[in-house]
Amino acid sequence: MKGRWRSLLLAALLTVIPLTGPAAATPAQAKPRTQEHTVAYDQYSVKVDGEPLYIWGAEFHYFRLPSPDAWRDVLQKIKADGFNAVSLYFDWGYHSAKPGSYDFTGIRDVERLLDEAERAGLYVIARPGPYINAEVSGGGFPAWRKTRKGVNRTSETGYLDDAREWMSRINRIIARHQLTRGTGTVILYQVENEYQGGRHDADYMQTLIEWAKSDGIDVPTFVNDGGANKNWVSGKGAPAIYGFDAYPQGFDCSQPDAWKNLPDYSYVNDWKPESPLIIPEAQGGAFDPWGGTGYQDCAQLTGTDFTRVFSKMNIAAGVTGQSFYMTYGGTNWGWLADPNAVYTSYDYGAPINESRQLTDKYQEFKRLGYFVNSVRSLARTDRAEAPTPSDEALRVDRRVNPDDGTQFFTVRHADTRVKDKDETTLSLTGADGDYPRVPQQGTITVDGRDAKLLVAGYDLGDQRLVYSTSEIMTHARVGDRDVALLYGRKSEAGETVLRYAKRPKVTVLDGDVTTAWDAERGDLRLDYTHDGLARVLVNGLELLIADTAETARWWRQDTAAGPVLVRGPSLVRTAELDDGTLKLTGDSTDASKIEVIADATKVTWNGRETAVTSAPHPIELPELTTWKYKEEAPESAPGFDDSAWTTAARLSANNAELDGSLPVLAMDEYGYHHGDVWYRGRFTTTGKATAIALNANTGPTGQYAVWLNGSYLGSSGDGAHTFDIPAGTLAAEGDNVLSVLVENAGHNEEWGHDYSKEPRGLLGAEVIGGATTLTWKIQGGRGAENPVDTARGQYNNGGLYGERAGWSLPGYPDNGWSRTTLSGQTGKTGPGVRWYRTTAGLDLPRGQDDAIALDLAEPKGTSTDYRAQIFVNGWLIGRYLADTGPQTRFVIPKGILHEQGGNTIALAVWSTEKASGPGSATLVDLGASAGGIRVRTVDAPSYDARTYAMPASGARVTVSAEPFLSPARPPRSPSRSPCRRTRRPPGTSNWR
Ligand code: GAL
Repeated sequence: MKGRWRSLLLAALLTVIPLTGPAAATPAQAKPRTQEHTVAYDQYSVKVDGEPLYIWGAEFHYFRLPSPDAWRDVLQKIKADGFNAVSLYFDWGYHSAKPGSYDFTGIRDVERLLDEAERAGLYVIARPGPYINAEVSGGGFPAWRKTRKGVNRTSETGYLDDAREWMSRINRIIARHQLTRGTGTVILYQVENEYQGGRHDADYMQTLIEWAKSDGIDVPTFVNDGGANKNWVSGKGAPAIYGFDAYPQGFDCSQPDAWKNLPDYSYVNDWKPESPLIIPEAQGGAFDPWGGTGYQDCAQLTGTDFTRVFSKMNIAAGVTGQSFYMTYGGTNWGWLADPNAVYTSYDYGAPINESRQLTDKYQEFKRLGYFVNSVRSLARTDRAEAPTPSDEALRVDRRVNPDDGTQFFTVRHADTRVKDKDETTLSLTGADGDYPRVPQQGTITVDGRDAKLLVAGYDLGDQRLVYSTSEIMTHARVGDRDVALLYGRKSEAGETVLRYAKRPKVTVLDGDVTTAWDAERGDLRLDYTHDGLARVLVNGLELLIADTAETARWWRQDTAAGPVLVRGPSLVRTAELDDGTLKLTGDSTDASKIEVIADATKVTWNGRETAVTSAPHPIELPELTTWKYKEEAPESAPGFDDSAWTTAARLSANNAELDGSLPVLAMDEYGYHHGDVWYRGRFTTTGKATAIALNANTGPTGQYAVWLNGSYLGSSGDGAHTFDIPAGTLAAEGDNVLSVLVENAGHNEEWGHDYSKEPRGLLGAEVIGGATTLTWKIQGGRGAENPVDTARGQYNNGGLYGERAGWSLPGYPDNGWSRTTLSGQTGKTGPGVRWYRTTAGLDLPRGQDDAIALDLAEPKGTSTDYRAQIFVNGWLIGRYLADTGPQTRFVIPKGILHEQGGNTIALAVWSTEKASGPGSATLVDLGASAGGIRVRTVDAPSYDARTYAMPASGARVTVSAEPFLSPARPPRSPSRSPCRRTRRPPGTSNWR
């Protein structure tokens, strides 16, 4: 049957016809770069070249995928899913390691990103900040802003000067890629990000709008209100279009089945009647905090059911732009994460998961996106009186297009939380006559947490659709016929009525479909149950009726020579019609037939003349059994040479948040912004000191550890702690050396007043009992604000000894290190930092896409009192907190792994109290597809002895001659308890 069908379709469709319908809604894939367009809007929608556009957007963060070739993979997957736009934040801090310095090369090449979006056929919604939030360190503010003047996100000068630096650069890049110039696909520009919450500096917002204009931005601007709160609707500082962000399920994924009663946003329509209503961030998932329950729960909370109900309710409310945050979340590699909100994975439960696999939710987005793009009347509708459902548990909303009369009915439960199955009929009136009972046979079934979006009175190509109780996935003119793909839930009944002047010829090719002809009205009624795929030819219409599972096999692509439909592969990335040959590229997870509906006589699949996909080859991953290891933290030894370290003796702080203890110790004041930082303090012995009171700000889940004269005193979590000095630890005479290793878990977002400026590192120190003075030296990531590794950049490394010595890098000569296995106890001797290195040789098959991750684990019953930084080929791809979780699996971004060659894996393990460490590290295969795209290994330096040379340690003790300064205020509530770590309980995030 399938074979017959394919040959029928291929043979029958020979006429080349011009592109119509949905293709105009998205930029053509091979658009000449000189063609200019207009982007405008009216009360209904954004309009491109005068055509109303329903924006169906996908949020993607390039900074969470440090692999420009892989951007193409994700963008193609987004486009193939039926999204017509990609929404892009630009992260200021990611590009700027110090004031005046901006990097737009390599993994930061946003020009390339914008080109890739254009090439994928996606419009771009540009969101350059200056503030972005996004669960990134500092909410996108560079950490150097902490020591600069001016309150963040206000029109105070110091801040505005710095923000201008960034905006002038990023704006000009965005401007060059505007659709209006014909040199890109940017169609909208967001001003700030959810600017509200006590702030209402209209001058600031207005300044950002004026900067954008003067930098050449001429596409419409919009605001994303942090909820439907009526901020920036009009007046000074209000951008052109009002939009609000909507996360109605919230961010607590721990009860993934507990829904909120989802809101109806229709009331927002009145706020700004002259502009369309858009949701720049519509909930596409949720983030999960340290100690959370894991992204499988977020994926469930915001799954297929939620996506369907939520987005259809927004359509019913009159929203004509929805952009889903996130569509691909990615990885908080390095020290990119905001520590209050998230751990390494930013999977987000999004439709494309962190390892770039397509989820069930992706299929729901495809059904919705294909609909939105093909039924163009949707972009221009008015709310209309809705029929009362026959079951009062249900609610019906109705919208009508004022020009062509197309009607849209959203049918769902009045209370979206319920799980009951209910049934209704509807009454329909309109240009096609009155139908007091739709469907005429049976009922419309609405399952728990379902919503249906039904269309009536619609010109479906050359056919007149009176109504259907199936949903439209897509329709297209292919060759000389109309093709429509309808769908419904398996086993639910469907009824479709089409209008013809005289009785049409009906051929049921597949499935069980009955027809009835009403000669008086000219109605052809088709009745059926959704089950697999039914196929009916009605005059010039090819009607495909699928159940939801079947829709996953279907793909639509709009080529320059017209739309094509493809059935079979697990992904169709691109399609080109070339002289009767349909050239397809895409992925497959199994061997299956490719069936096409196209105006073509021949098909090629990934360059080969075949209409059959293949399964990927099985792969073998090496076991990581043999490791080299080395203890570090020589900084804790009293004789360690710190003469080249920075002296921390400043008596005034640049950061206004720092107004207490002197000398100023906070790490950012000395240009060290990310990861771990060492302090070494000296005090002359009096013999009477009993304890050391320290106050360190590590950010949530961060920690610090203390040694005195090489003896370990203990560790603490974020905040103040007093460490007793055990007998015999103090020097009999001369200097005592205090070594403190402080982890900075990342910088806060800016959701309070200068909250992102909260200092990190040591803030206060006092020797208790001995009237003595402390002088300090500090050491952090190599190069400080001039990181030596500019390819991976400032977020990749902190100041662990091993990091400064290049131990994380490929090519480091570890031949002098001891051999070990992770499963044994070797090296797990107690508190301290130690490194493990191994190499993994891979020979993955070419021509397929393998998603690889690294799992860390320790045997049950062994101590979890450790954390590890995981480096793959020098990239910090993950941070494992054994006692906090939940993450144990770390996706290795595509392009970081050498798929045919050697890979260096390095673990920097820090135990604070007990002998502990990982018991195993395992490479795992998260999914393979035949096909994929070519992703080259990302360029980044290997070990170079000249760059990473360390002075021979243990040389001499240098005593700093800094003046004594007693602390101006005692550290925060020092406790005298034996050293125990004081942690925020897992899962507590003070985010909002
Ligand atoms: C929004 C914000 C985004 C992101 C999101 C939650 O309020 O604009 O940047 O933080 O919440 O993931």
